[in-house]
Amino acid sequence: MRQPLIMGNWKMNGSREEGVQLAKALAEGLNAGSQEVAVCVPFVYLSDVRGALAASSIALGAQNVADQASGAYTGEISAAMLADCGCKYALVGHSERRSYYGDTNQTVASRFCQAQKQNVIPVLCVGETLEEREQDRTFQVVDEQLDAVIDAAGIEAFANAVIAYEPVWAIGTGKTASDEQAQEVHQYIRQRIADRNPAIAAKVQILYGGSVKPDNAKALFAMPDIDGGLVGGASLDAKGFLQICHSV
Ligand code: G3P
Repeated sequence: MRQPLIMGNWKMNGSREEGVQLAKALAEGLNAGSQEVAVCVPFVYLSDVRGALAASSIALGAQNVADQASGAYTGEISAAMLADCGCKYALVGHSERRSYYGDTNQTVASRFCQAQKQNVIPVLCVGETLEEREQDRTFQVVDEQLDAVIDAAGIEAFANAVIAYEPVWAIGTGKTASDEQAQEVHQYIRQRIADRNPAIAAKVQILYGGSVKPDNAKALFAMPDIDGGLVGGASLDAKGFLQICHSV
């Protein structure tokens, strides 16, 4: 049985004070349950939010990680630095990094590997654009995104990783994938892993992201291959995010 995981991705939002207050509200409001909860926080607030979450089970995550271990990479944040700040997770290959900042399947694979070298669990974000879906290329795109990591790290690497399926056309649009659309791709991802290693496929958590809200979370999370959510906008409101966390 896979443990449900709900991750909030705060993106580039909030202030130090707002982040600390949000973290405190989540820590106070989260009911003990089977699910794990994590928040992916702007780098500059990681230490403050870590302090606010110190007495709670809520894990800390980052929204990106450097594809190099250390050195002359101005502005980058290494996996070792994230581990230093208490990060359990790091998003890699979020569609906004891919589309706005030029992350490729290869650089995402490098970031994935750097995170694992420092015992930070990579959350590999995959998903298609609306144009790719309309061209019936969803599975091809996801294959390419998965294969780049498998080529770089081996299928065994997914024993200590999380996958997040985020259809780009559902991110920030309020247009959520239907339960069936999401389940279809999740099932496909799990099968692609099972083709190489059934034991890892059975265990790997596959999260759905893309306009997860309090009113659609329960039905999404009830699907057999959806193990939780990667929540953007709705994670910035403590009440709504807690409602999502309590949906599993
Ligand atoms: O990483 C999660 C994010 O991309 C989804 O955003 O606002 O559609 O929940 P949102």
